[in-house]
Amino acid sequence: MNWIEIGELSDIPLRGARCVKTPQGKIAVFRTAENDVFAIEDHCPHRGGPLSQGIVHGRAVTCPLHNWVISLETGRALGADEGEVRTIPVRNEDGKLFIALESLMLAAAE
Ligand code: FES
Repeated sequence: MNWIEIGELSDIPLRGARCVKTPQGKIAVFRTAENDVFAIEDHCPHRGGPLSQGIVHGRAVTCPLHNWVISLETGRALGADEGEVRTIPVRNEDGKLFIALESLMLAAAE
């Protein structure tokens, strides 16, 4: 696995997210109120809404488009909705964040 540094935990607001562009698509990196960090595809399983612009609550995010709730831990839609996004391994080393990509290439990080 290739760990790519994507910046600092402090770059992400509490209960917020940032979007990182990779050759494998956009990845949304979330910081919960408890300072846990999760990374999932930034692409809602419903109709592709930008999950990084959603509202974080607990360990889930609500899609800004039609309010599906996606688990940050499993990438699965919660409640009555069905669908799933890929989760990406993320590591926090003294406030520096790394995500694991399957390829060495990283086009650009925003
Ligand atoms: S695109 Fe996310 S809920 Fe519809």
